[in-house]
Amino acid sequence: MADSSTPSFKAADLVIQLTSSPKTKPDIGDFGTVFTDHMLVIEWSLAEGWEAPLIRPFGNLSLHPACSSLHYGIQLFEGFKAYRGDDDQLRLFRPMLNMNRMAKSAKRACLPAFDQAELLECIRRLVEVDQDWVPHSDLASLYVRPTFIGTEPSLGLKKPTRALLYVILSQAGFYFKTKAEAVSLWADPKFTRAWKGGTGDCKMGGNYGCSLSAQYEAEDHGCQQVLWLYGDDHQITEAGTMNVFLHWINENGEEELATPPLDGIILPGVTRQSILELTRQWGEFEVTERYITMDQLCSALKQQRVKEMFGSGTACMICPVGHVVYQGENLHIPHQDAQLTSRIAKELTDIQYGRTPCDWTLLV
Ligand SMILES: Cc1ncc(COP(=O)(O)O)c(C=O)c1O
Repeated sequence: MADSSTPSFKAADLVIQLTSSPKTKPDIGDFGTVFTDHMLVIEWSLAEGWEAPLIRPFGNLSLHPACSSLHYGIQLFEGFKAYRGDDDQLRLFRPMLNMNRMAKSAKRACLPAFDQAELLECIRRLVEVDQDWVPHSDLASLYVRPTFIGTEPSLGLKKPTRALLYVILSQAGFYFKTKAEAVSLWADPKFTRAWKGGTGDCKMGGNYGCSLSAQYEAEDHGCQQVLWLYGDDHQITEAGTMNVFLHWINENGEEELATPPLDGIILPGVTRQSILELTRQWGEFEVTERYITMDQLCSALKQQRVKEMFGSGTACMICPVGHVVYQGENLHIPHQDAQLTSRIAKELTDIQYGRTPCDWTLLV
């Protein structure tokens, strides 16, 4: 976290300009298509430092055509959700972890530092302003999308001298149209999502734009998502935009929940961290951050040692894997009873919607 000596905007300086024409709230549509009435914008320049944060009516940005985020991808984003509990109270789920990840991405993108607690308080105020947009449903939520872009108005490739941090909000229903049905994954080692020394552990747009053609190839092969492999031994790394977990009896005959370690190519997911902490608290089986290769998965499947495999992320929360298509084989992954997946989903949603009191949530 930036300490108090880091030059930063302050939530106490927040200016709020309310819209005079609030929108009619439509039914929840496709993910990320309908936005709320307001947005948070905070400008930075090397000459002036951070300006006062501003909540203003939602609207288009005006950018210089040479803007460095458009030309060189000097940008990053975050994603988390506000949930309306059964008690009508709004909660954010572990948002400080997102602030922390955002600050790390900013450092990697050569964007200026900010005080994470101050940003979180500005976001909390934004959600408060648009609180009527948080759905009255425990199947839906309000997605919070902080974005940080270089707005350097010149074509020289350099550390930006101007930047814009903004936050927009969008209603979110179920991410997968097929709800919690098990997904099929296309595992082709010719694609690499991230590599050692790269930016795979940061949430930068470039990581996502360049993954799209693999996603469409997966769809061409009848799969819903890509299972991203890495290295000559085809290590399993992530699934689509989710972290990946394998619940199995490992090579030593132990029951284990395993997920790849944070070695620079894995996005440190908030849901991933929460699942690790939750299942370690249970103390019922080994919970490990370790490498898993496709060979290991294939032999475990042959020997019927695989219990479940699932992806995790804010958007879908937890998503069982039903099939992996790999080297011409359609590998069936057990998912019929999805015991672990359902138990984790219940425990996490109980926290998010306030049914289980927990200091993982921040009240809005
Ligand atoms: C590549 C990638 N992996 C994993 C995740 C899951 O992270 P989180 O649980 O913080 O949403 C995301 C989503 O942000 C992602 O983009």
